[in-house]
Amino acid sequence: MKKIVFALSCNELLAKSISEKLSAETGQIEIRYFPDGETYVRVLSNVLGKDVIIVATLHNPDDKLLPLYFLSKLLKELKANKVTLVAPYLAYMRQDKRFKEGEAVTSEYFAKLLSSFTDEIITIDPHLHRRHSMSEIYTVPCKVIHASELISKWIKENVNQPLLIGPDSESEQWISEAAKNANAPFIILEKKRLGDNEVIISIPQVEKYKNHTPVLVDDIISTAHTMIETIGHLKEAGMKSSVCIGVHAVFAGNAFEELKKTSAKEIITCNTIPHESNGIDISDLLVSAI
Ligand code: R5P
Repeated sequence: MKKIVFALSCNELLAKSISEKLSAETGQIEIRYFPDGETYVRVLSNVLGKDVIIVATLHNPDDKLLPLYFLSKLLKELKANKVTLVAPYLAYMRQDKRFKEGEAVTSEYFAKLLSSFTDEIITIDPHLHRRHSMSEIYTVPCKVIHASELISKWIKENVNQPLLIGPDSESEQWISEAAKNANAPFIILEKKRLGDNEVIISIPQVEKYKNHTPVLVDDIISTAHTMIETIGHLKEAGMKSSVCIGVHAVFAGNAFEELKKTSAKEIITCNTIPHESNGIDISDLLVSAI
């Protein structure tokens, strides 16, 4: 089946790399806004009977959702064979529980919505917190890819005597895997979130790792408070400057600038969200999943 790859705004680079690696056609679309702010969508390529791939990473999802919905509906109307959403970063995975009475469990609503207008979803390290699998909330087939091997490779090639540090118990599964692949020791900390902008991280026990370079690895860097707090502890413990690695460079507000002000010597992310910190390319992983 012929494949055609479309990019939603800010995904052009990744979409280009994917379509080149797949030897697929690059889809042409026009998306713009009417003066009143409504979205205009036009597909300029022939998609009849083709397998369509939409590359749309979903940080700041609210603005992206409606154009994505319109595009997907239109592609189906134009008789595309299948619409696959490649969302390297998948949003609305965190509110997966009603913590307080009356709260919306948005991860479920969002999953239902995406499942209603796509045929398949491919994503990287979604924040499955209290869920075990995407199929608990998504009704379309989902392929989940992990960046841990690429992260280990980057660490092996760039860090001398690394000590991998995971910020919370959830990270243990993949930090242990990444550490094994990088032939490095690892420790897992405990985290208590007090609010959107406040976290408490346990003091790391690092006495025996004084000659190592701390490598903080997390799936999402959002406010960066998790990393900033951990870096503070490591500095107090007399450790060398840390390397920070995040899969998804969400960097809310001025989080990146705040993180740069710390003693971190390097901040590296995967290109699941376009950002100046991108240093690990995940396009090959996506291509094999497609
Ligand atoms: C939370 O459980 C995640 O794994 C990350 O640790 C979290 O999203 C980081 O958030 P922030 O950068 O806002 O501290």
